[in-house]
Amino acid sequence: MKIYLKCIFYSLGITLFFSTVAVGQNTKVIEVKTKSTSLVYAVDQSKRLIFQYYGKAVDASDNFLRQQAYPKPDTNRDFSYEAYPTFGLGNINEPALSVIHADGSLNTELAFEGEETKSPQPGVSETVILLKDRIYNLTVELHLKAFEEEDVITQWAVIGNQEDGSVQLTRFASSFLPIKAERYYLTHFYGAWAGEMNVTEEKLENGIKVIECKKGVRTTQTENPSFILSVNNPAMENAGDCYGGALAWSGNYRLDFQVDESKRLNITTGINPFLSSWSLKAGERFTTPEMIYTFSSRGRGQVSRNLHDWGRKYGMVGGNKIHDIVLNSWEGAYFTFNENTLTGMMDDAAEMGIETFVLDDGWFGNKYPRNSDHAGLGDWQTNEKKLPRGLDYLIDYAHSKGLKFGLWIEPEMVNPESELAEKHPEWIVQSPGREKIVWRNQLLLDLSNPKVQDFVYSVFDSLLTTHPGIECIKWDANRHVEQAGSTFLPATEQTHFWVSYTEGLYNVYKRIRTKYPDFVIQDCASGGGRLDYGALKYHNEFWTSDNTDPLSRIFIQYGTNLIYPPVGTASHVSTSPNHQTMRVTPLKFRFDVAMTGRLGMELQPKDIQGKDREFAMEAIKNYKQYVRPLITNGDLYRLKSPYDEGGWASQMYVSKENSSVVLFVFSLEPHLRGVFPTVKLNGLDPTKTYQIEEINMNGWSHFWGDGQTFKADYLMNAGLELQIGVQYDSAVFILKEIK
Ligand code: GLA
Repeated sequence: MKIYLKCIFYSLGITLFFSTVAVGQNTKVIEVKTKSTSLVYAVDQSKRLIFQYYGKAVDASDNFLRQQAYPKPDTNRDFSYEAYPTFGLGNINEPALSVIHADGSLNTELAFEGEETKSPQPGVSETVILLKDRIYNLTVELHLKAFEEEDVITQWAVIGNQEDGSVQLTRFASSFLPIKAERYYLTHFYGAWAGEMNVTEEKLENGIKVIECKKGVRTTQTENPSFILSVNNPAMENAGDCYGGALAWSGNYRLDFQVDESKRLNITTGINPFLSSWSLKAGERFTTPEMIYTFSSRGRGQVSRNLHDWGRKYGMVGGNKIHDIVLNSWEGAYFTFNENTLTGMMDDAAEMGIETFVLDDGWFGNKYPRNSDHAGLGDWQTNEKKLPRGLDYLIDYAHSKGLKFGLWIEPEMVNPESELAEKHPEWIVQSPGREKIVWRNQLLLDLSNPKVQDFVYSVFDSLLTTHPGIECIKWDANRHVEQAGSTFLPATEQTHFWVSYTEGLYNVYKRIRTKYPDFVIQDCASGGGRLDYGALKYHNEFWTSDNTDPLSRIFIQYGTNLIYPPVGTASHVSTSPNHQTMRVTPLKFRFDVAMTGRLGMELQPKDIQGKDREFAMEAIKNYKQYVRPLITNGDLYRLKSPYDEGGWASQMYVSKENSSVVLFVFSLEPHLRGVFPTVKLNGLDPTKTYQIEEINMNGWSHFWGDGQTFKADYLMNAGLELQIGVQYDSAVFILKEIK
């Protein structure tokens, strides 16, 4: 018997849903597709929205429909997985959503109400599926945004409360993905200050593996809300089914990987619900952050390339634009400088071909001068003693040398020794009555408070309004949350602090981007402590790590570029011995490593003289001419992992038309006499022929065939036998298509 549920309207916000669903017979399949992937859901006979499939493109809606209609044993629940499982379903796995309803009930059961697909822009489609509790007026919109060319599907949920009173959201994930395979191998990231994005892979067994952060701010220093999941076998570069995921959220996150009793892997991702229950008033909506997914049947190399393409186009500001080569003052001057120190650095920078000079920490504070990290944070006025002619003098000087001028700020933070802390103690994150815990001698401003948001916005805006010559800002954040607590939020909403802080930060970013859409902003939090697609959306690049040692950077950038684009990966040549590791390395090695990302320098450039200076200038020229266009718009192929035994690392970038390539090879260890790497290229058009030329040479070539032409087939299958084996030796080659 057919029972028709007639025309259910749900007018929520601006979206209007209209759908007729036949219960009893008509099931329905909802497919979200990109060039090479499909994500499929089905509505079953009782209006449950069931996950069916996510993987390589499948053009067979009717098959899924028949599969769904086929009666399952028992209650059906053990054999099919809801698209957005809730507590109260009878499913004992981790729920995506748990709600305490207005009447105190703990159970939620969602039923399909309708679905709509739009195309907000060419190459992008957005499907919205509306679900509603079977009893309560609580709704969930599942948003699925498909990026055709990049093979990326992003997901988020909007929870709407139309009940009679407030409901408490105690779990509110962005996305749920149940995957079925024989075995699951999770690649994820770990680290510490000056050692971010180390890569580890583990086989998942029954139980829950959690990747999470509870630090509120600087959330990616130790873990990262991203991963690669390889099914059946450990991840390979060029073969095998791999999923890539990244959560666009700069606050606390939690990624759950639960292998359940039926050997499915349930991936539940979103904001960390830890001490964060959210009270949603009647009539309000809660939007979760976006979870970014990609799938590749050709290994994790393609996962990275998909994410890079997506990131450059949709996930960051100016991702396809050429980035300037930067000299940053930090490691060259730290807090100790005057006008002459800085203008001297600019003279050298200009002579060496650098394009932007960034004045880092130490330029501000008068009553409490910022001469160390003990004082001044919050007082964003130029220090008159160090810089008597003000910022404009420096800006004009930079411009007179043909350089752009950039400036460091850390506007979310305050030193107790500052005029700001004296004036606005109530703006500080705090737990009333308790002693405040300082970290790097600083405290955090409470961005859940709109007045603090105004202040932080005005730090940025006033600097740019007063000094319109500033062309770049490095935005830092050097501590995390130790004691949560807001004098602004009411007692009943203290658990909102974590989410409200991050939303407050995003409000500021949005205001900035409305007024300054293309302005260059670097994302930094003690290095890579805020490296996520939530923050990156408002930034042009990120400071990858405070560790500038080239050997450490090979590992850090290898991990970083598994998920995030090389064009945004700020990578600076610093002095030797390195300030973080004390390691001594050749200048060429430091340059060659830094050229795999967004090249810059972070030292006192007058210390580079003679032959070294000639080499540096030549390398900067080469970067501009040959390397930078490929870092900006090319495809990354990893050829040798620094994690593999052997002590080599190698990667290449190839232009989208396959006409030019830059190849990097590094020797990480001393190798025995006669032990040389053979490097096989990838991603070339096999019908093409290329001329190879080594650049950044120190007088001799590492390749016997330097200057000669080679068939792509040879390059990819036989490979290049290179004479490189001494520790910290490296080679960079340019390949050009010969027509
Ligand atoms: C952080 C940043 C560094 C530098 C210092 C300045 O550690 O990561 O690059 O800007 O702060 O205090």
